[in-house]
Amino acid sequence: MSDTRANKRFRSQEWFDNPNNPGMTALYLERYQNSTFTRAELQAGLPIIGIANSGSDLAPCNKIHIFLMDRIKAGIRAAGGIPIEFPVHPIQETGKRPTAALDRNLAYLGLVELIHGYPIDGVVLTTGCDKTTPAMLMGAATVDLPAIALNGGPMLDGWYKGKRAGSGTIVWESRRLLSEGKIDYDEFIDRVCSSAPSLGHCNTMGTASTMNAMAEALGMTLPGNAAIPAPFRERMEMAFLTGKRIVEMVYEDLRPSQILTRKAFENAIRVNTAIGGSTNAPPHLQAIARHAGVDLHVKDWQTVGYDLPLLVNMQPAGEYLGESFFRAGGVPAVMGELMAAGHLHTDALTVSGKPVADSVGDARSLDHDVIKTVAAPMREKAGFIVLSGNLFDSALMKTSVISEDFRRRFLSRKGQEGIHEARAVVFEGPEDYHDRINDPALGIDENCILFIRGVGCVGYPGSAEVVNMQPPDALIRNGINHLPTVGDGRQSGTSESPSILNASPESVVGGGLALLQTGDPVRLDLNTARMDALVDDAEWDARRKAWTAPELKHQTPWQEIYRANVGQLADGGCLELATAYQRVAKDLPRD
Ligand code: FES
Ligand code: MG
Repeated sequence: MSDTRANKRFRSQEWFDNPNNPGMTALYLERYQNSTFTRAELQAGLPIIGIANSGSDLAPCNKIHIFLMDRIKAGIRAAGGIPIEFPVHPIQETGKRPTAALDRNLAYLGLVELIHGYPIDGVVLTTGCDKTTPAMLMGAATVDLPAIALNGGPMLDGWYKGKRAGSGTIVWESRRLLSEGKIDYDEFIDRVCSSAPSLGHCNTMGTASTMNAMAEALGMTLPGNAAIPAPFRERMEMAFLTGKRIVEMVYEDLRPSQILTRKAFENAIRVNTAIGGSTNAPPHLQAIARHAGVDLHVKDWQTVGYDLPLLVNMQPAGEYLGESFFRAGGVPAVMGELMAAGHLHTDALTVSGKPVADSVGDARSLDHDVIKTVAAPMREKAGFIVLSGNLFDSALMKTSVISEDFRRRFLSRKGQEGIHEARAVVFEGPEDYHDRINDPALGIDENCILFIRGVGCVGYPGSAEVVNMQPPDALIRNGINHLPTVGDGRQSGTSESPSILNASPESVVGGGLALLQTGDPVRLDLNTARMDALVDDAEWDARRKAWTAPELKHQTPWQEIYRANVGQLADGGCLELATAYQRVAKDLPRD
């Protein structure tokens, strides 16, 4: 045992070996002995490592973690730690109504209580499906005990009739084919189900793969972790190494507060551009930053990330899926390419105990079809544009998915490059959209922009992934697959739709979107990053005076608690009061 290991007293010994409080010590010991442990090991002065298990039958995207537990525990034991596994609140992106986004902050709260209030010295966070990753990183940031993330990995690539079928992305494509009458209900289901051939999370660069790449770019995972497909042997090896490493981190007292710095977030924003990452990354990173006490603003996504190139040729921005991304080198290769071009903070510390420069090392793309170089990218200037105007203070547009067709139709009019003026059509939530989108009375044509409101954090509640609204069937049959869409909700990270989303403040709290009416002219100007309703000031003021907040109907107690405490997407959609709690592990004893 090295010197750093001698004479180290862990917080778990407050529970299990405290001669000043024999009554409580005995109570803690007797109950943990009746299940898993012996007195001798609990009093051996070894660190106790929590494993936050996010896998269950309710959380299929993360179910692989149930099978990885053995390897994580073996790694912890091999390094001289004691593993203690516990469940976290499951979050399944596509299965939870009204939306999984509602549960991110609930899982966060639960995790904070678990790792703060139980005999744990360090924690392995098992991430995967979209919100499980930010929820756990947020919790680890608040508590600030040594923490390391391990994701379950993407599914194997899906295939349908000889073509790659990517999670989520196949849904948007099939939805259009169904509207055009080219496929029927059964083929629709077959196409979509073909995208999920194995255990694992979404195999596209949707929110799951994005957020796990963000965890790696932030320095919160071992290098190479994010992209390993779930069923690969390398995934089991990574689980073992992660278990080993967290024990060393506890001895080194290496905490999230040393890793989650402003530099780490800037690295993550840049990696997000290079991978063509999800529009859900900004609110999630914003939330992690706020719980870590790091100053990050939604505008940083443009100033730090816009100018960078898209390097990864993966759906929805490109063509390939997770297996190819892994074989081309995964996140270390992307970071290596960015680093070689001087785009990363190489001194940001990672869970490996080394700075980015060392943890990435000389990793580079192994397949230039899949991961491009900065010198020859998929696309230049591929980050998010952060728009503002009289409809919202901020809203995001993901430029890496703007197709040539969309650019030509809407953004490339002669003398008006990047400017689009159109007539607003406004929907009050997804039910209203589904009811009326094909109503000829709305007169929707190529000169319309579709708006949806009432779908933000407070409004929905939780913020719904509904902004990527499909045009009316009649337009699709005429070859118009996308109209510009705008909303105070989100959209799936698997969507290739160039929507303007996450508009904050949302309509139900009085954001400008609330005042918009169908028929209003609206102007989008990408050159000045503005979007405005072209309604004269007197009329706009009169509408504001006449506006009253809608009455919100809660379905569960949590929905009411959430709505009373949640902030806006631009600020991460956090429970605002929770952001005041920082590094809570430092003063524990309460008995
Ligand atoms: Fe869970 Fe995509 S739905 S990972
Ligand atoms: Mg989603």
